[in-house]
Amino acid sequence: MAKEEKKYNKNLVVVIAAVAATGGLLFGFDTGVISGAIPFFQQDFQLSNSMVENITTAGLVGAVIGAMFTGRLSDIFGRKKTILAASIIFVLGAVWSGWAPTANDLLYSRLFIGLAIGISSFSVPLYIAEISPTKMRGQLVSLFQLLITIGILVSYLSDLTFAKNNDLSSWRPMFYMGVIPGLILLTGMLFLPETPRWLMSKGREDESRQILKRIEDPVLVEDSIRRMKEEIAKYKERPGISEIFKPWLRTALIIAVGIMFFQQFVGINTVIYYSPKIFMIVGFEGARAGIWGAVSVGVVNVLFTVLSLFLIDKIGRRKLYFIGLSGIVFSLFALGMVFAFHTTLGDLGKWMAILFVWVYIAFFAISLGPLGWLIISEVFPQRVRGLGSSIGSLANWFFNGLVAFTFFKIIKLFTASGKGIITHEQIYDAATNSFTVQAIDNGNPAGAFWFYAVIGVLGLIWGYFYLPETKGVPLEKIEEHWRQGRKSRDLKE
Ligand code: BGC
Repeated sequence: MAKEEKKYNKNLVVVIAAVAATGGLLFGFDTGVISGAIPFFQQDFQLSNSMVENITTAGLVGAVIGAMFTGRLSDIFGRKKTILAASIIFVLGAVWSGWAPTANDLLYSRLFIGLAIGISSFSVPLYIAEISPTKMRGQLVSLFQLLITIGILVSYLSDLTFAKNNDLSSWRPMFYMGVIPGLILLTGMLFLPETPRWLMSKGREDESRQILKRIEDPVLVEDSIRRMKEEIAKYKERPGISEIFKPWLRTALIIAVGIMFFQQFVGINTVIYYSPKIFMIVGFEGARAGIWGAVSVGVVNVLFTVLSLFLIDKIGRRKLYFIGLSGIVFSLFALGMVFAFHTTLGDLGKWMAILFVWVYIAFFAISLGPLGWLIISEVFPQRVRGLGSSIGSLANWFFNGLVAFTFFKIIKLFTASGKGIITHEQIYDAATNSFTVQAIDNGNPAGAFWFYAVIGVLGLIWGYFYLPETKGVPLEKIEEHWRQGRKSRDLKE
């Protein structure tokens, strides 16, 4: 009976986490979908490159705003309501962007969707972390990352499905597709409970206990309630925004911002979003080959994120971090070498570039990808967990933007004049309303990859001092650890 009961609990929490993790699908889909849509709406609305750039950046700006202003709201109104609000924005934003009668509508609708991406990117991991049994927390929160990677892949596939060369409005169904996962998240969340920890922080002990009984290992229910009560009793005043900047939470803040810095500054999105270009630079002919290259990257990303689900609660966060980041540093260094010697390597260079891109993605997928979102949902104390993890998420979007903004500048900085790699690409010319083949000097990304590799090495050192081993540690015990002023690396099960 006990065994059956436990199994039932496990299935229930997996379902709860999977429904909430649909927020990750939207995150991945909505950040990925734009790249395939650009050539179509640019031609449809006759847009200049700078307007296209504005539309692309609008999503990122929205995400920053979403993460910046809603963390505190999720502490006040609850995790469930925050995710519900995000799902409504996702649905409305998808309809608006698909229907957009003008380029300005497209810009504002992308900004609007960005808000939902920003909100869901911290509230979903947070929701799952607070509702998971301690032993499975890593695995369940990582479902969020798994769905991000699936979302990115689905966006490529949907772009491939809807892209029709002779139909300029092809971009519309690409954006409309976002309605489906949005509705799944919205309806699913209506049926999910609030997290027992948030309820408890609002003094709703009975409701909290009812939910805990359904999801936690039965022998741990009263223990969890007791720990939560003890933690709450330690606070004298009402929580305010300043709480998060108090000295005892400095380490938690450094961890949340630090892990997001390294997650983004190893250049993940330059590899993901520029991968078609990377494949073209190394000599695979034509845009189609480029897109298929990107799909292959998406598949590797999904498969290795699945693997991470089985590792994260077994071998732990620190080991995964060090293994993953070492692999990332190695493959970035190797990628740099391939580009530095691409003329000597010839055809072999092409295959080596692809191989190292895959190796890079695989190591990211088992480590920094899931760990970033997991760690920010774990390290803050109950009363400011929403605010804290939203700061982590804000850092993520900020660094993401900074890497995107500086990538080409870094390439240029490290390319000796006249040594850039030339590709021949079809470029849309708004003045003549036609595509022409132009020679493009891409610079040489070798220096940029080495630069990211060096940052990765710094990440290894940072991780030694700051990355906590939260595997198997109840959230309340993590809180206690900071309160005692202890070192991050001394946290243990
Ligand atoms: C990162 C994204 C990235 C994705 C790739 C996420 O954890 O935050 O920036 O695009 O992983 O899988």
